[in-house]
Amino acid sequence: MSKFPKNFLWGGATSSAQLEGGFDKGGRGKSQLDYVSYIPAEERIGVPGTLEVSEERFNYGVEHEGEVNFPYRRGIDFYNHYKEDIKLFAEMGFKTFRMSIAWTRLFPTGLEERPNPEGLQFYHNVYDELHKYGIEPLVTMIHYEVPIELTKRYNGWESPEVIDLFVKFTNVLIDEYKDKVKYWITFNEINMSLNSPYTGAGMFVTKSNKNPLSAIHQALHHQFIASAITVKYMHETAKQCLIGSMIARLECYPYTCKPADVAATLLEEQINFYFYDVMARGHYPKKILKYFKDYDISIDFVEGYEEILAENKVDFLAFSYYMTYVVSADEDKKENPGNLVKLLKNPYIERSEWGWAIDPEGLRTTLNKIYDRYRLPIFIVENGLGAKDTLVDGHVHDDYRIDYIKKHVEKIGEAIEDGVEVLGYTTWGCIDLVSASFGDTTKRYGFIYVDQDDEGKGTLERYKKDSFYWYKNVIETNGEELE
Ligand code: BG6
Repeated sequence: MSKFPKNFLWGGATSSAQLEGGFDKGGRGKSQLDYVSYIPAEERIGVPGTLEVSEERFNYGVEHEGEVNFPYRRGIDFYNHYKEDIKLFAEMGFKTFRMSIAWTRLFPTGLEERPNPEGLQFYHNVYDELHKYGIEPLVTMIHYEVPIELTKRYNGWESPEVIDLFVKFTNVLIDEYKDKVKYWITFNEINMSLNSPYTGAGMFVTKSNKNPLSAIHQALHHQFIASAITVKYMHETAKQCLIGSMIARLECYPYTCKPADVAATLLEEQINFYFYDVMARGHYPKKILKYFKDYDISIDFVEGYEEILAENKVDFLAFSYYMTYVVSADEDKKENPGNLVKLLKNPYIERSEWGWAIDPEGLRTTLNKIYDRYRLPIFIVENGLGAKDTLVDGHVHDDYRIDYIKKHVEKIGEAIEDGVEVLGYTTWGCIDLVSASFGDTTKRYGFIYVDQDDEGKGTLERYKKDSFYWYKNVIETNGEELE
């Protein structure tokens, strides 16, 4: 007997910027990610993988249009390959496919009054194609994208003006697609602006009049409000749909059992959970307000924000899970082997080629912790192994990926037995796509290999890896057969 419920949503996850391409097709405008250039391997020494972009790097990209390698503009050209790709997902038996919408495909600068019909049609076509195979779309309204015009004009989410512009966009999404899309997430990894404000909020902290932490929490406040207003509209007009909040879940362990390390770990967790607290419980926890005070973080709260948040809570909780980390109260211990967050090495667990701690047990812990705390259904919307794959005679033998996913699926099964309500599991980058940390395609996550290198060269042909057949069987047996 399978541990997984009958209607468990197995599938894969992507984002428009990393997948779609077609940046100059169908009237699409440019986003801030369209100006993130590829960092060649030899220039990365000492640079932690991060999508954080300085004003200098951004200006360099603007001034060298045409010469610079901008990977998010091309993705893996899903724009022209979506039928073929969805057919492959269907062959694996996907029940769901997570994708996001390019805001700029609908509102090229973010400022237009009406959406671009060609952009609307593209997503209709994709959803129709998914439904043809009985695949339920899971849609992230925004995955790290901000129209570049809003970055330039408003410093992105730092300004309250962006709230209405975003709500105009999400109202259109709901009106247009509510009968084709049941599961929605407002923001991808909403907490990631803490580490990467350019990526998460389309802003430069250097342009703000506030101190950096205040500027970021100000932007986050605007995102919380925009999300809550979107939830309200969804609940009022599309009762058949479910809308969730998503964070990058950072399960953390104390470096030692010294009480000071345990207290520091608790604070890290409270900061990680505060995003769920605001969106699922409907208020800023007192501890976080105290933390703001202690760290001189000042926010100009939007009028009526307490009611807006309290009255519009999400229906489910989603998270990405790649690694766990270790916290010490001792500042001198800080290392940085992960991509977006500060981590200490855990000597008890192995790491990926990119230094990411591989910790399946931590997934079970995290699922239990979240469910104990919020009692809401949970969707694991990202998890997977980034690795260098080799294509030989049309084959990729990625047993390392199978092993990684298998161990995580086992732990999800155990968490379900523990009583956690899990809606589904979508592995990250189910088809190889552009990586977020360095904009490369050398780091691959997919069950499907895409012939494209870091420079964008290749045939774009798709190949099934060994993991493709393995995952197909996992879905077919509803998680019973993992060998
Ligand atoms: C998550 C993001 O943080 O991690 C994805 O939501 C990203 O966009 C994924 O691609 C994996 O990170 P990377 O850097 O390996 O692509």
